[in-house]
Amino acid sequence: MLSYEELQTLLKKEGQEHLLRFYDELSAEEQASLARQIERVDFSLIDYFKQKNFNKGEHKEEDKKELAPMKIMSLAEIEAQKESLYAEGVKLLKAQKVGAILLAGGQGSRLGVSGPKGKVDIGVTKTVYIFEMLIRNLMDVVNGAGAWVPLFVMTSEKNDAETREFFAEQDFFGYNKDFVHFYMQDMMPAVDFEGKILLEGKGQIAFSPNGNGGWFSSLVKSGLIDAVNAYGIEWLNVFAVDNVLQRIADPCFVGASSLSGTNCGAKVVRKNHPDEKVGVLCLENGQPNIVEYYELTDTLRNAKDENGDYLYAGGVILNYLFRLSKLHEINNLQMPYHIAEKKIPYVDGEGKLVTPAENNGYKFETLVLSMIRLCGDCLPYEIVREKEFAPIKNRAGVDSVESARELLRLNGVEL
Ligand code: UTP
Repeated sequence: MLSYEELQTLLKKEGQEHLLRFYDELSAEEQASLARQIERVDFSLIDYFKQKNFNKGEHKEEDKKELAPMKIMSLAEIEAQKESLYAEGVKLLKAQKVGAILLAGGQGSRLGVSGPKGKVDIGVTKTVYIFEMLIRNLMDVVNGAGAWVPLFVMTSEKNDAETREFFAEQDFFGYNKDFVHFYMQDMMPAVDFEGKILLEGKGQIAFSPNGNGGWFSSLVKSGLIDAVNAYGIEWLNVFAVDNVLQRIADPCFVGASSLSGTNCGAKVVRKNHPDEKVGVLCLENGQPNIVEYYELTDTLRNAKDENGDYLYAGGVILNYLFRLSKLHEINNLQMPYHIAEKKIPYVDGEGKLVTPAENNGYKFETLVLSMIRLCGDCLPYEIVREKEFAPIKNRAGVDSVESARELLRLNGVEL
């Protein structure tokens, strides 16, 4: 651990000496905790953003974008090759070459949950937790392949203990706990408009989760990458916690990605209306990328192929397969950071906690979808929306517990 003098030298160099402002008022334990927090900060990233003047549009390259559609592996094509895709997928699953990454580090603010989103009970006549539904879905694959799928659960500092306790309390929902591993995603400090790191307590840096794009670098940093290597994993299936119809480590999807030779596969739902608000997988300057619906011009949004299908049609659902060897080539600094202005509670010069009414600083996040471009190629793999996509994002209406229940019932799930 760094001494006070070492911390002072480091922070002076970085222009962040104010972090030690209340050092003398802290207990020995709090001082040690603050030192550990400071050691965790990636000052080079903050410097980088400062130099760029926190230019939020910087990574967007609005003017240089040249878009082209991407060919989707259609339901009909998948059906026609089902047996060979399944056989390839099961072969890899049996050899434990596929791991699953559950992204559970989010804060679920739209749903208004304080703890892990996976603890939400979506049952009606009995308890059915979100985590439970996901494990049940994964068990279908385990039973089909006759092998456990290693599952890595990414939590955040804010929900890690509660997530682990819940899995233990629920006896891992029937899963083999030897194949479940937890790790925490990294945190990024929030800064004010001048790039000064904010304190949310006298000895507490205002950290927040660094977005779901940090899943791989955090896996490496946590040391769990050794477990990934020990299994001999070649593919990692990353998925969101909130899609309760999620098919995880889907053998045909694994088989299709593996046989196509791609570095990455993305499950997509076919857009059924040009104005649907989903990110669409396409080529941007020759590289696969996800383009937000509002970034497509009217002409591109409405463009159709010779069969009358929309050309820009593959809506992503946050279920991706990544080839491990390619992930190792992706440098964290290549990931575009999304810089958002936020109201961030902080302690002022007198040590008083201030809850600002206006935005007072920036938070930083990376997104998993940015990895697709960095992979260089991608297989868009079509799924039936009603069978595989029931996200729970909001309290009511679209993508809510209620809409997910309806879809679960349609798929024969008793609630
Ligand atoms: P969302 O973008 O829906 O974010 O995450 P969220 O935090 O769950 O919900 P809101 O936006 O606050 O309402 C998509 C997936 O990425 C994970 C989430 O847990 C979810 O599975 N995620 C998000 C992380 O693991 N870490 C993050 O920092 C952000």
